[in-house]
Amino acid sequence: MFFQKRTKTKAMDLTNYRGVINLSSCTELEQQVNMLHITVQDLQYLNALQPYVQQHIESIVEDFYTMIMQKAELIDIIEKNSTLNRLKGTLRAHILEMFDGVIDYAYYEKRVTIARVHVRVGLRTQSYIAAFQTIFDSLVKIIEQQISNTMDQLNILRAVSKIFHFEQQLVVE
Ligand code: HEM
Repeated sequence: MFFQKRTKTKAMDLTNYRGVINLSSCTELEQQVNMLHITVQDLQYLNALQPYVQQHIESIVEDFYTMIMQKAELIDIIEKNSTLNRLKGTLRAHILEMFDGVIDYAYYEKRVTIARVHVRVGLRTQSYIAAFQTIFDSLVKIIEQQISNTMDQLNILRAVSKIFHFEQQLVVE
């Protein structure tokens, strides 16, 4: 047999997952949401993945810092501005929040502030985006292992890609 037979599974029912977009009359936020085509359904898919992200958060954070620890420039930024333990805590909370299923002004403002913190500590955009890719790779692994329906996998990947781009746009502004 050349092709592996995939077991057909039912697609997820999104009814009980949170999906809230509240633009709060903020033009920049509205533009970003529209340009990235972020929908309530995307946010529900993110929220559906949240329990799996929670379950694997330690390994996501570990993979992230393994990547950082390979670059002297990044170690230097951490040593000058923070501690590894503190950063692990903030990163954990930050990642989980991406899967709350809510985009509103508070979410946007918080992300803008965090992007500015990274500019302040001298993190290059190139490294910031590479760091996102490391987290994205960890999430792809989780989606592959935990989500059995192929359409659900694609819809979740699309949603993750949008929420990641949302944040990366803020730092390249
Ligand atoms: C601060 C997340 C990449 C170094 C922070 C904070 C968050 C965060 C949530 C806390 C901001 C605050 O004080 O309110 C992220 C995310 C990243 C990322 C999501 C990329 C996916 C990096 C990288 C470095 C780094 C690659 C490399 C050195 C720092 C430093 C601070 C910080 C030094 C300041 C901490 C402080 O003020 O104590 N980051 N980070 N971050 N991050 Fe990142």
